[in-house]
Formats: sequence, structure tokens, C-alpha cells
Amino acid sequence: MTTTPSRQRDTVLQASELVRSYGEGETAVTAVAGVSLAFHTGEFTAIMGPSGSGKSTLMNLLAGLDTPTSGRVLVEGRDLSRLTDRELARLRRERVGFVFQSFNLLPALTAEQNILLPLRLSGQRPDRAHLDEVVASLRIGDRLAHRPPELSGGQQQRVAVARALLTRPAVLFADEPTGALDVTSGRELLEHLRSASTELGRTIVMVTHDPVAATYADRVLTMSDGLLRDSLERPTTNEVLTAMARTETRC
Ligand SMILES: Nc1ncnc2c1ncn2[C@@H]1O[C@H](COP(=O)(O)OP(=O)(O)OP(=O)(O)O)[C@@H](O)[C@H]1O
Ligand SMILES: [Mg+2]
Repeated sequence: MTTTPSRQRDTVLQASELVRSYGEGETAVTAVAGVSLAFHTGEFTAIMGPSGSGKSTLMNLLAGLDTPTSGRVLVEGRDLSRLTDRELARLRRERVGFVFQSFNLLPALTAEQNILLPLRLSGQRPDRAHLDEVVASLRIGDRLAHRPPELSGGQQQRVAVARALLTRPAVLFADEPTGALDVTSGRELLEHLRSASTELGRTIVMVTHDPVAATYADRVLTMSDGLLRDSLERPTTNEVLTAMARTETRC
């Protein structure tokens, strides 16, 4: 695959020759089979591909949640393989944000307490103006005193996005963030991710199965068999569908 960055911007995240294999011998599986790529500040990237193509594995490697069999990942120029466990834990807490399909909020805490939790865990004082900005942009200002079970799925996911954004992460990772939402809440969430990239300048890497969701991104990467296949700049839904069809014929 060839990657042609459309704009000259800072590289915030870089992977070179990433490989992740599981098991040995006949039962060995190579989930990521040699991936090199770069993400630029403020860029919104979607990763698509058939089930089992290695999307989540790649994302976990990029986020420092998993260790590659070979190859390396640089987050803001720091090689993850050279960090101590403590440094890596800190980087994950402070420089990387996560949003999962299943929200992962703590039900006993209010929305605001959930949002502030990562900052509290790293002993930082919340910046009230930044909290207000993030909460306003996600339109959850009137839900902050509620606990997750009192919120809709869309609201819960927006709380999860606020929590991930509040530390001003270098990269926000989202693995199928709209997977548990209805179409309308899903589109709304994508608009919020889009504006986190455009207005707050956040770098976003999102895995999705939904070709329409992918069109909210600046760039869509497709994967099959642990390798990157296509890189599309601001594609239409039809272009995404065509690229997806190419990955499926390879499987
Ligand atoms: N811990 C593990 N041990 C063994 N094999 C694994 C492990 N995690 C993932 N795999 C395998 O690696 C491959 C890629 O998995 P991965 O979860 O990255 O796929 P995916 O593209 O995210 O799929 P989906 O769209 O279904 O979420 C699959 O064949 C999977 O079975
Ligand atoms: Mg996955």
C-alpha cells in the first residue's frame, strides 16, 4: 500500500513494520503482519476490514495496550518499546484516550465523576474551562449529575468521549464506538468525533464496520489478513464499499 499524506502536519503517531503473532507452530495466528503508517495531528482516520482482519489488534498495539512481536510504535516521538512499565502506564493514562463499543462507564459514579476519573487517577486538577468546553461541545452539560443507567446509549457514549478527551490525549482511539448505538445516536456521535478533530484539533483513530461512519473521517484505511490494503482520502460511501469489497475477495 502507498500512503500519500494530503497535508504537511506534525506526525503524532507512527508505526513501523508492526507484527503481532499469537501462539506457535501450526496454530500460530499472525493478526498484524507488517504494518507501517503515520497519523498526523488533528487527523481523523477510520480503519475498516472484515472480522478477524487485525483491526483491534493494530489499534491495541498503536495505543500501547499490547506489545508487538516485532516492529515499533512511536507516540509523540517516544518509542513505546523503550518505556518502563511505569512510563507506559502513564502514557496510556495521559496521552492516549479510549472509547469502546460498550461505553465502559462506572455505573455508581455520575457522568461528571466518570469524565473526571482519569485526571483524578493521575493526580491532576481538572481545568474547569476545558471541562465546560468539552461538555458543551458534546451537549451533555445538563446530564452531568446523572449516573450512566439514567442516560441513553448515545449520551453514555458521549460521556465516554468526554472522559477520553479531557486529558487532551495525543490520540483518541475508538473501537467501533457506534456499534451499540441506534443509527441516529451513532451519526450524532460521529458528528462529535468529527468536531473533536476539526475544532479541538484531536487526532482520532476509529475502527468501524459501517461504511457511512467511515465517511466522517479524513482518511479511511482498509485491512485484510493483517495488512493495510487501501488508503482513501475523504472517500464517498461508494468508494468505501468498493475498497471493502476488495478486502473481502482477498480473504
Ligand atoms: N489473544 C489472542 N490470541 C489468539 N488469537 C488472537 C488473539 N486476539 C486476536 N486473535 C486473532 O487475531 C486475528 C485478528 O483479530 P482482531 O481482533 O484484531 O480482528 P478484528 O479485525 O478487530 O475483528 P472484528 O471486526 O471481529 O472485531 C483473528 O484471527 C483473531 O482470532
Ligand atoms: Mg475488533
